[in-house]
Amino acid sequence: MKIISTPIELKEYLSNSNKTEGFQGNHSVGFVPTMGALHEGHITLIKEARKDNEIVVISIFVNPTQFLEGEDLDNYPRKDEADKKICELSGVDILFLPNANSIYGNDEVSILAPSVRGYVLEGFSRPGHFNGVLSVVMKLLNIVSPTRAYFGKKDAQQLNLITLMVKQFFMSVEIISIDTVRESDGLALSSRNIYLSKKEREEALKISASLQIAAKMIIKNIVDSHEIINKMREHLEPLEIFYVEILNRDFEIIKEVELENTVILVEVKLGETRLLDNIWL
Ligand code: PAJ
Repeated sequence: MKIISTPIELKEYLSNSNKTEGFQGNHSVGFVPTMGALHEGHITLIKEARKDNEIVVISIFVNPTQFLEGEDLDNYPRKDEADKKICELSGVDILFLPNANSIYGNDEVSILAPSVRGYVLEGFSRPGHFNGVLSVVMKLLNIVSPTRAYFGKKDAQQLNLITLMVKQFFMSVEIISIDTVRESDGLALSSRNIYLSKKEREEALKISASLQIAAKMIIKNIVDSHEIINKMREHLEPLEIFYVEILNRDFEIIKEVELENTVILVEVKLGETRLLDNIWL
């Protein structure tokens, strides 16, 4: 595994790997952007990238612009050595570990999240967060020029906005979405789960359980969004709920669940930790 820390070096390395003797045409490149503290969710993305592509690149960059004032940027878990091992064992070819100075300049061109879809749900409770996410993803995609880039459905709104950006900016990467990986008791894996106390970890199970309640109602043909949301909220109490929402795949609120076109999303705060989860129906 090659470790590279600057955009220029990575671009050069990738362009040289396409000049390999005897190789016809370009190598396919699968790219997995992350902020590190890697877990099975990230590993699943890497393995999918490994299946489909000749070269697998992963980036680990705790992107400062997507953290709001007072958020956990300084405390975000950093596990460089363990992460390197995980990458090596998962079959990564190139690990990109840039620092903020090599990614950002002083007077930046901005990518702005769309004014509606970028400011609902997580974008409402973290205004401006998705400007930072889209900016860094745009930069990383331009540095790596991957054939395919892999994102988790767990961050459904992030996935939706990145897909929209790629479409609206006519970018040629294919965005591949990967199902949420969970602990055996249902909790969605997240780098932030380590912030949870034992009690909070137990309470967090209400999140995936509330989504299961919704799924069971839908199997019984109860499709009224209001009714489902009320049941979910009842189950989530007394947790601090940011939102429980039923949307279509374009992230518009829908009054009734539409099979094959619905995402049910939850975000709660446990202590100081925000936890997101969702199901796609
Ligand atoms: P991070 O939270 O490290 O997540 C990196 C990728 O892993 C994202 O696409 C995320 O959706 C996916 N992921 C996280 N938990 C998962 C799980 N339990 N199952 C499946 N996939 C999961 O998301 C970010 O970093 C950043 O915002 C980033 C896109 C890298 C931009 O800075």
